[in-house]
Parts: sequence; structure tokens; C-alpha cells
Amino acid sequence: MSDAILSVRGLSVRFGTLAAVNDISFEAERGGITSIIGPNGAGKSSLFNLVSGALRPDAGRVIFDGRDVTGRRPDRLLAAGMARSFQITNLFFELSVRENLRLAAQFVEPGSRLGALLRPVGASRAARARVDELTARFALRERLDELAGYLSHGEQRRLEIAVALAARPRLLLLDEPTQGMSHTDTQDTAALIKSLAGELSILLIEHDVDLVMNLSDHVIVMHQGAKLAEGSPQAVRGDPAVQAAYFGEGAHAAAH
Ligand SMILES: Nc1ncnc2c1ncn2[C@@H]1O[C@H](COP(=O)(O)OP(=O)(O)O)[C@@H](O)[C@H]1O
Ligand SMILES: [Mg+2]
Repeated sequence: MSDAILSVRGLSVRFGTLAAVNDISFEAERGGITSIIGPNGAGKSSLFNLVSGALRPDAGRVIFDGRDVTGRRPDRLLAAGMARSFQITNLFFELSVRENLRLAAQFVEPGSRLGALLRPVGASRAARARVDELTARFALRERLDELAGYLSHGEQRRLEIAVALAARPRLLLLDEPTQGMSHTDTQDTAALIKSLAGELSILLIEHDVDLVMNLSDHVIVMHQGAKLAEGSPQAVRGDPAVQAAYFGEGAHAAAH
């Protein structure tokens, strides 16, 4: 790939005797949507944890925008332009939608991180503008003063993506953003993700195979910690090894 925002080389991590991520290499194209699919337990979230610095690899490198960031902490990666949303929510439930977004938007402003956290709500004009922009785009404007804990599941998942975007990342990692969503919410979220591509680069973990095939420029298939296949959605779907391991009988039910 000519212009990679992310290059992962031989990334591995073990949990005891389990090779959760086993020598994974791939590149994510700048401005594109690169998706990682694979059955439950394949190692997708662990791979995200390695890329985003939440886990230290036992081997391998993570190159972000030409720079080796292997083992860098998540907050430093966020400041450098890599944001992630989590499979398990990362919102402050006891804070409002506005406050969740404002904190995230102020995180990358000049001055100390702690300063951003301590600054009173609404103190930064730039952060306020970003909050306005994101609540409009994510259809959360009516919910601005609602506590995040009182939002519907779909709204919480949307807010989570908005929070990840608040820091204006160049690369966004999304771990199953449509998990637990209704069909309509899933379609809306897919359209939203598609609308973000180009503006920034996206690395997506998704269990909904049809969604991945429609959204992605490039697909990586993981199976038991290893990379089973990669390529265009069409090529991957037609790969016999992928069909056997992933699209085979009962695979849809196990595809998490
Ligand atoms: N912190 C951990 N400690 C021990 N085992 C883990 C840990 N995190 C994940 N695993 C195991 O690693 C494997 C891959 O998990 P995970 O990366 O969550 O897969 P996926 O996201 O593809 O479902 C699973 O067998 C899981 O039980
Ligand atoms: Mg997972």
C-alpha cells in the first residue's frame, strides 16, 4: 500500500499459553476504512489494545503515520492523533453529553492535560464549537444536558464515537460500534462511519459481516490470533479458507 496511516508489523501478545495475537502484519490506507473481522475470541480487541497502547506487545512494531509508536501509552497516542472507541463503553455516565464531549475536546488543547480537565465547563471557545459540531452531526443536540447514563443504547454508542472524534484524530479505531444496536441504528451508524472516511482514516472491528463488506476498502480476517486472509471485501468473501473458518455453518451466530 502506497500511503499507510498505520503499519502493523509482526505484532504478537500472549496471555499465559494463549497466543491471542500471533504475528499480525497489515497496513491501513490513509483516508480509508480498514476492517478486522473474525469469530469471537479471534484476537480482534487484543489487536486494538496493542495498536492503541493499552497493551504492550511481546513482539512487533506499530508505525503510526511514519513514526514508531510501539508501546506508547493511549493518552500519548491520542495526543498524537490516534483515538479509539471501546467495545465496552468508556463514557462518564454521571456526566452530561456536553461534559463528556467537552472533556474530550479539551484534551488535545495546548496546556497541560490536567489543565484541560480542571478548566470549567464551556471555558474554551474551540471546545464549545467542537461540541456543537459533533452533537449536530451525531443527532445528539436534544440530549446535550442529559446524563450519558440516561441515553438509549444507540445514543450511547453514537456519543462514544463522537467522544473519540472530539480530539480531531487522524486515525479512529472503532471496536464493534454497532454492537447491540437495532437494525435501523446499525444502518445509521454505518452511514455515519462512511461519511467520516476521507476526512480521517478508520480501523473498524465489526461482527456484522454484511456491514463490513459494504463499508470497507480493505478487510483483514483474524482466526485464533493469526491473520487468515486479507484483501478487498470481494476477495476476502470469496476466499475458501475464510469461508471454511468464518462463513461456514453457524459462523454467523459465532461471529463476534
Ligand atoms: N486480558 C486478558 N487476559 C487473558 N486472556 C485474554 C485477555 N484478553 C483477551 N483474552 C483472551 O484472548 C483471546 C482473544 O480475545 P479478544 O481479543 O477479546 O478477541 P475478539 O475481540 O476477537 O473477540 C480470547 O481467548 C480471550 O479470552
Ligand atoms: Mg472483541
